[in-house]
Amino acid sequence: MAHFLLVTFPAQGHINPSLQFATRLIHLGAQVTFAITISAHRRMIKSPPPDGLSFVTFSDGYDDGFNSLDDVQNFFDQFKCNGSKTLTHLIVSSANQGRPFTCLVYTLLLPWAADVARELHLPSTLLWIQPAMVFDIYYYYFNGFADVIRNDNNDHPSSSIKLPGLPLLTSRDLPSFLLASNTHTFALPIFQAHFEALEKENNPRVLVNTFDALEPAALKAIEKFNLVAVGPLPPSDKSLGGDVSKDYIEWLNSKPESSVVYVSFGSLAVLTKQQMEEIARGLLGCGRPFLWVIRAKENGEEEKLSCREELEQMGMIVPWCSQVEVLSHPSLGCFLTHCGWNSTLESLVSGVPMVAFPQWSDQGTNAKLIEDAWKTGVRMIVNKDAIVEGDEIKKCLELVVGDGERGEAIRRNAKKWKELAMEAANEGGSSYNNLKVFVDEIGGGSSYNNLKVFVDEIDEGNVVV
Ligand code: UDX
Repeated sequence: MAHFLLVTFPAQGHINPSLQFATRLIHLGAQVTFAITISAHRRMIKSPPPDGLSFVTFSDGYDDGFNSLDDVQNFFDQFKCNGSKTLTHLIVSSANQGRPFTCLVYTLLLPWAADVARELHLPSTLLWIQPAMVFDIYYYYFNGFADVIRNDNNDHPSSSIKLPGLPLLTSRDLPSFLLASNTHTFALPIFQAHFEALEKENNPRVLVNTFDALEPAALKAIEKFNLVAVGPLPPSDKSLGGDVSKDYIEWLNSKPESSVVYVSFGSLAVLTKQQMEEIARGLLGCGRPFLWVIRAKENGEEEKLSCREELEQMGMIVPWCSQVEVLSHPSLGCFLTHCGWNSTLESLVSGVPMVAFPQWSDQGTNAKLIEDAWKTGVRMIVNKDAIVEGDEIKKCLELVVGDGERGEAIRRNAKKWKELAMEAANEGGSSYNNLKVFVDEIGGGSSYNNLKVFVDEIDEGNVVV
């Protein structure tokens, strides 16, 4: 039986697809050990893990969670240092106990995991939890197209960027870490390290949280990498993310079909007070019921909005919710989203049309896919001060939920993609089959013997981990 070691970055948007991936592996008969930081484990499901899944926790030095006042570089250094030690220990001790791992699967922002696996002669596979198109753009950036991509950005924001096998892009469609305006300097070297790690493999295969029909060209754009679509990977556990009151479900139950606007910016993005006020203005102007997730600020306080009372008459504001449960509720009409890849896929899987308001990272590319490739939503336009105004928000919401031709087409497309997403993930579908081939190949590989010999060698050499 194949035994996978899975390791992921301790953020909700990384944990959720990884957990679903683990569930799918188990469904295909594999065993999974999930290595995760203490802080992330605390935020996770309270129910016992399913048979075949076990957790191993380690400290990244930030057991109470990381916040924006902390030193990012220090966090990444500690995560790498403690994570590498934990993985090494797990891999060696499991082999010694006669339960060796067959493969290490790691997600984004931890390229060092591939180094650990390589040193211990264990096969490893990257699970890319963003679209294939984002993978391609980063690849091109690190492989000869940096000038084309940077031909940019701030000087000519609307000029076209042509990359092989991809549609024409403009700077707002690029991952934000590639823009001249990027201030998150930690990110690019990590993505580069991911590609360097892949270059060291023979015939590198990357599992991608997408599906064949969703990104046919992007999955094939780069010949030297075998991108294998295994998504969508939306959470199946509706209690994910901790205990939250479910009053909002009762509230949703009281609303007409397809009437509610759901507003959420994921688990990380922080909007300015001014932007929040504009969203409030747009929602009030639109006049539809809404469910708005406003996470508490890092200091624990909630954002004080000038029209809070009015808002609470028309809609409901919650600090967190079970998003997959909300999106699959019949009262949902539209999702005003930051276009995190999980939110994007979860909306797609639920057939809910989107109003796209990307913030950073891959979200601009995701918004491009939503609006232009699948046509399941519209993207809002920011003004010269980088704010989306209330009137623009109202206009886009009305376009997506209203009676006009474009709104109807968007809603039709949303339904179509829901069907296609389910088809891909169901038994016998493209992603199901792709994952099955991967598990069969890995499970039937000769890694066990290789690893056993190697571990025997390091045992003799008294290597202590
Ligand atoms: C991050 C990045 O920002 C995103 O761009 C990248 O694609 C993945 O990692 P995040 O910003 O948190 O993720 O957004 P997203 O990818 O949408 O993931 C958020 C997850 O939290 C989703 O699975 C969503 O269902 C869940 N969620 C969010 C809730 O369960 N409840 C909420 O109230 C909000």
